[in-house]
Amino acid sequence: MPLDIEKIKSDFPIFRNAHRNNKPLVYLDSAATAHKPQCVIDAESRFYSEDYGTVRRGIYFLSAMATEKYESVRKQIAEFIQAGSPAEIVYTRGATESINLVARCYGESQLKAGDEIILSEFEHHSNIVPWLMLRDRIGVKLVYVRSTRDWRFDMDDYADKLSERTKIVSITGMSNVLGTMPDLKAITALAHAKGAKVHIDGAQLVPHMGINVKFLDCDFLSFSSHKMLGPTGVGVLYMKRELGDIMSPWQGGGDMIEYVQFDGFTTNELPYKFEAGTPNMAGVIGFGKAIEYINSVGLINIMMHERETTEYVLRRMLETEGIQLYGPTTAENRGSVFSFNYKDLHSHDIGSMLDFNNIAIRAGHHCAQPLMGKLGVISTARASFYLYNSKEDVNILIDALQQSERFLKNAVR
Ligand SMILES: Cc1ncc(COP(=O)(O)O)c(C=O)c1O
Repeated sequence: MPLDIEKIKSDFPIFRNAHRNNKPLVYLDSAATAHKPQCVIDAESRFYSEDYGTVRRGIYFLSAMATEKYESVRKQIAEFIQAGSPAEIVYTRGATESINLVARCYGESQLKAGDEIILSEFEHHSNIVPWLMLRDRIGVKLVYVRSTRDWRFDMDDYADKLSERTKIVSITGMSNVLGTMPDLKAITALAHAKGAKVHIDGAQLVPHMGINVKFLDCDFLSFSSHKMLGPTGVGVLYMKRELGDIMSPWQGGGDMIEYVQFDGFTTNELPYKFEAGTPNMAGVIGFGKAIEYINSVGLINIMMHERETTEYVLRRMLETEGIQLYGPTTAENRGSVFSFNYKDLHSHDIGSMLDFNNIAIRAGHHCAQPLMGKLGVISTARASFYLYNSKEDVNILIDALQQSERFLKNAVR
């Protein structure tokens, strides 16, 4: 069903409130963080004003209610990604923390010097640096899969690099710079055939396409609430139960233990053994509302809308003189995030000029400096789209780019 963008926009108060210079907000930075519908804001606020109590610690009414809500979101998340059990859903602070948890808790206990970890050239710093840190601690080797000339994941190169030495394959589900979406099913099957475990960085993929971890058979999946209409400070690490069972916890404290003595402790069961300390309860409850909202719009409708948007952006960008688009130029297996440069303007100038028109894009290296090196640039402008963006937003972006070039030329004269 086509999305009613005006109706969707009206669910997000930011679009009523963030007019500047008499211009409505055109928000094209959802790959960095997405805006929140009123229902998410209300859920978080209601929790503080009506239901607030600590989870899994108190025996009083508020605590019991808070615990029930908090744990019911875990079930919602498990259903959203088709996990076998809520016990496989660990709450974290975000995708970054989830990836660090895998590198630390799985990597350190299961890998040894000389073992190999396969990443791709598309990775965000969050899916590079934790593995570099692991390399520095225990001497594993990082191997990077090349991208093809048209900025796809090179399956041949991957198959060549995969070997019995490979112990983990950690790959983005969607590049936050180029929109490239590798074939996760094929990547996972090949890795498993060599006995390697697969971690998917789903920070960009899950908000837009969802994911079915059972179908993919991935071993770990990381993603963040704030990129999918939910609050900041909440993330998810999905882990197969049998892997969670063999991993030791990384942070010690309340809740992750079963029993503590002055000279030792035993750990709690999954998923709690990875959740030390009082968690972000309000954030989790807001995240539950965000998932409810996405489900009510319909993930399939969101996907179809974004596919149309992607086709339209590609057409407009490729036909507009002066735009240099980076990444795949067809919509197949490509998300709605577009890195580009325009004429000989610096990406920061593009960003500032667009900001003058109340168009919010990202400019910089997008936490992907190695990929910038491959692209041969220091930075790019990036426009990214979500369910609340319309074709009109695309037109406004292209018009403003063309105007900004004229404006800057006049300013230089
Ligand atoms: C592909 C990718 N992975 C990981 C992250 C890290 O997510 P967070 O900052 O929410 O932890 C991001 C954030 O932009 C991302 O785009």
